[in-house]
Amino acid sequence: MKQFRVGVVGATGMVGQRFVSLLENHPWFHLEVVAASSRSAGKTYEEAVGARWAMPGKMPEEAKKMIVMDASQVKEVASKVDFIFCAVDMKKEEIKALEEAYAKAECPVISNNSANRFTPDVPMVIPEINGSHLDVIPAQRKRLQTKSGFIAVKSNCSLQSYVPALHPLMEDFGVTKTLVCTYQAISGAGKTFATWPEMEDNVIPYIGGEEEKSEKEPLKIWGKVENGVIVPVTSPSITAQCLRVACSDGHMAAVFVSFEKKPSIAQIREKWASFSGEPQKLGLPSAPKQFLHYFEEDNRPQTKLDRMLENGMAVSIGRLREDTQYDYKFVCLSHNTLRGAAGGGVLLAELLAAKGYLD
Ligand SMILES: NC(=O)c1ccc[n+]([C@@H]2O[C@H](COP(=O)([O-])OP(=O)(O)OC[C@H]3O[C@@H](n4cnc5c(N)ncnc54)[C@H](OP(=O)(O)O)[C@@H]3O)[C@@H](O)[C@H]2O)c1
Repeated sequence: MKQFRVGVVGATGMVGQRFVSLLENHPWFHLEVVAASSRSAGKTYEEAVGARWAMPGKMPEEAKKMIVMDASQVKEVASKVDFIFCAVDMKKEEIKALEEAYAKAECPVISNNSANRFTPDVPMVIPEINGSHLDVIPAQRKRLQTKSGFIAVKSNCSLQSYVPALHPLMEDFGVTKTLVCTYQAISGAGKTFATWPEMEDNVIPYIGGEEEKSEKEPLKIWGKVENGVIVPVTSPSITAQCLRVACSDGHMAAVFVSFEKKPSIAQIREKWASFSGEPQKLGLPSAPKQFLHYFEEDNRPQTKLDRMLENGMAVSIGRLREDTQYDYKFVCLSHNTLRGAAGGGVLLAELLAAKGYLD
């Protein structure tokens, strides 16, 4: 595979730091530019991040002395890289404009932000599930009048456990309705216990915008490309409650589900065990070998024990059993800044590279 020069826009933030960590020693992608707000621009990456470094490992040596660029200097950044990862904390309209400016500067954007998730010709991809949505990119390039620039996005971190768990059951059994309660880590808000001490020993029953994203985004992911746009499905109906809990990393979900044709527990387990997608078939560098892992133990998966399964890129599932109101219930877990954010972004970039969209 060809080597790609990569920029991280929002490199000083929680997700940006993950990107910088994941790009260290990546076989295809080389970190060329770190960019952030004008507050960080001109400083070394080490100075700009300072005490905010929140990754378990040390800051990569190659990143420490890099001078942070101003993300609004689009042409300058775009001229140095083959594509960017984007994870910024800005107003939605500003993010939309920034991402479009990079795409129009012929710099593909792989985004973790929500601003473009419902732009009809922007693919929102979980690579194991809907890689076929990348087929919409030529139509998007036509709209943007670009040759190589485009925007592809990742879905919200809250749904990265239950959408993969439900997906292999859809075709044969027809999921009709789902109720989900999520228990989400504080890194999902870009925070640590040091920067958000109120979260110690606490649960907050509100995460702005999260329930709507958790209910709506899966319908686009399961949608189809038609006439240059992605048309969302209209079912299953999904209802969600999202809670912030006192965990550093890892989003857990308690899921209730009903089907058109109720499968047996053995059939569900078999579907999970045998499920794999394009990243596994293509052998992409960041793909987990087994995407969905089922735990037999009643007290698993646990956030602290299981979030790093397969380098934080796998989904852990457990406690599948019959329910009194829905057909079944189970719990599932994924790492929010790895599979749910930067890791999922890197995997999406690998899929785009393997399919020639980054050439
Ligand atoms: N955390 C997660 O688990 C997670 C998961 C999925 C998606 N996301 C999404 O990813 C994005 C980033 O989240 P985060 O948790 O990493 O946030 P964060 O830790 O608050 O980091 C925000 C980043 O945005 C940069 N930024 C702020 N204003 C800017 C501006 N005007 N121009 C350019 N850069 C600017 C900051 O740079 P400075 O340091 O210079 O201020 C910093 O690098 C958000 O859209 C979030 O919704 C997060």
